[in-house]
Amino acid sequence: MLRYLTAGESHGKYLSGIIEGFPAGVKIDPAYIAAQLKRRRLAPGRSARQAVETDEFEIISGLHRGATTGAPVAVLLRNAGRALPAPSSLPRPGHADLPGMLKYGTPDAVLIRERASARETAMRVALGSFALRLNELLGIDINSRVIALGSLPSVTAASAAQELLKARRAGDTLGGIFEVSAAGVPAGLGSCMQWDRRLSSRLAAALTGINGVKGFEIGGGFEAPLLTGKEAAACPELSGGLDGGMTNGRELLLRCAVKPVPGLPGGVPATDLKTFRQKLCVSKTSDTTAVFAAAVVGEHMTALELAGALLKKFGGDSLPELKLRVDEWRKKTEKILRRL
Ligand SMILES: Cc1cc2nc3c(=O)[nH]c(=O)nc-3n(C[C@H](O)[C@H](O)[C@H](O)COP(=O)(O)O)c2cc1C
Repeated sequence: MLRYLTAGESHGKYLSGIIEGFPAGVKIDPAYIAAQLKRRRLAPGRSARQAVETDEFEIISGLHRGATTGAPVAVLLRNAGRALPAPSSLPRPGHADLPGMLKYGTPDAVLIRERASARETAMRVALGSFALRLNELLGIDINSRVIALGSLPSVTAASAAQELLKARRAGDTLGGIFEVSAAGVPAGLGSCMQWDRRLSSRLAAALTGINGVKGFEIGGGFEAPLLTGKEAAACPELSGGLDGGMTNGRELLLRCAVKPVPGLPGGVPATDLKTFRQKLCVSKTSDTTAVFAAAVVGEHMTALELAGALLKKFGGDSLPELKLRVDEWRKKTEKILRRL
């Protein structure tokens, strides 16, 4: 079983993470992990904090001479922006602050936001890089793209840059939709035998677990009900590569809606829990949009879930063992799938 956990706060010394149950013999270059972290850090729409963060990291166990050993892999990721904000009794709307303060019985919103911050998603990317690499070595190609940004009809690098500039100048933020695809996924990952073993459920949890994600679709998603059964029958891609909670050998297609960044540079009205007076809650360092960075995180969360599902189905303690089994399975299933 593949497990992973993260720890650490936004302004603590480090974020840390452990991935356990990962097979031996997976060659991974630290430059590969650094490149993944950079994709998240420097995604369009990020704030000035990203210029401070360097995402300098250290792999402290589980790797020997550039390859995994089968031991738990532990990663430390340094936080460069380390000045802990002053205590605050002002919960920021649209954030974990208010429910967290009530739940954990603290008058200080900073204690909640430090952990709830999306800074933690950097560690998910670091751990996810191992899973992404494993998927790659097994011939599974995971990608993401942003398909909507605010009300922009089509997202290109140029149109996005212009829209982000417009929003930034207006002191506003944007949401968007990202899509994650995975090609080359063997059929039969996941299970139809129990709701929580469905790969669709696991992917939904992994992707809606990304901060700011408020909508999730598989394949045809919310558009599928607009078709009749006859029309839908002619579009096998509507299932997004998952039938009955299992991969069906087609490309996996997942979509997430990310809400507009709630922190606004001009401030949003909020109630101070000390005085119960309204104040303006100002976020000077907020991103203009999180959707591009979230797309990168989405790829890594998908990679982690697929790696878990592959290891569950095929077992194997080392990459050669796992690969042998996956190749054999592909030969067997593709003989059938090709004839459909
Ligand atoms: C990569 C990334 C960066 C984010 N950056 C910000 C930000 O700068 N300011 C902000 O207010 N929210 C930001 N968010 C969104 C908040 O983290 C998120 O809305 C908040 O934690 C509440 O969680 P929820 O929207 O899932 O309920 C970011 C999200 C992600 C994934």
